Amino acid sequence: MTAPVEPTASGTRRLHPVIAIDGPAGAGKSTLASHLARRFGFLNLETGAMYRALALKALEGTTALDDESSLMRLAETTHIVLESRPNESNRVLLDGADVTARIREKDVAEAASQVSVHPRVRAWMVERQRAMGARGGVVMEGRDIGTHVFPDAEVKIFLDAADAVRGERRFLQDAAAGKAPTQEAVLAAVRDRDARDRNRAASPLQPAPDAVHLDSSSMTLEEVCARAEALVQEKISAGT
Ligand code: DC
Repeated sequence: MTAPVEPTASGTRRLHPVIAIDGPAGAGKSTLASHLARRFGFLNLETGAMYRALALKALEGTTALDDESSLMRLAETTHIVLESRPNESNRVLLDGADVTARIREKDVAEAASQVSVHPRVRAWMVERQRAMGARGGVVMEGRDIGTHVFPDAEVKIFLDAADAVRGERRFLQDAAAGKAPTQEAVLAAVRDRDARDRNRAASPLQPAPDAVHLDSSSMTLEEVCARAEALVQEKISAGT
């Protein structure tokens, strides 16, 4: 990591760049984030896993997903840890328990999207995400990283793909994991979640004005990774 110390928009200094990757489910963000993290030796932080972990805790207890005050009380007694691992998704600890696999289940994905509409829940998450990325040297993936969490990120990528392509990718991932939903059901779930993520009032999924748009329906993921790698390298070489 070679970037110099730079003052950020928030007036603090960080040693290394923040790479923000936003986009809808199934666009390939995780593949891209882990590629960049490996390539540049940065931490890879999947912010969606934090929403998933809180949602899981709500599902396992009695907290309703539409009750913001109760979700906030729950959040205040919750400890979520994202462990960045080379070549793998984050290990996720919820109050010390390893929930890495459980939070990938469909019920948790759906619940996470519901939990994430609440502004106070988002503020709680954003505060923690900013603390995790404050020193830079991170690839942070989510829906609002370039718009809210790190509006001063050195590199912002908005990775998108056509619904049908994203639905098919999720279907193939589920099939490889031994699950057997129909392709139509997977596509419908992807569309539902997207609609909620894009249309919520609090920091909806949208590209930051200065984000570079990449569309993985018209590029292979290898091409996406190469293009993004070049963007990051350019910033590092320019010393920003
Ligand atoms: O990226 P993911 O599929 O693990 O995210 C799960 C849900 O969490 C997603 O439906 C929207 C929400 N989310 C969010 O609102 N903001 C983020 N930065 C990350 C995820």
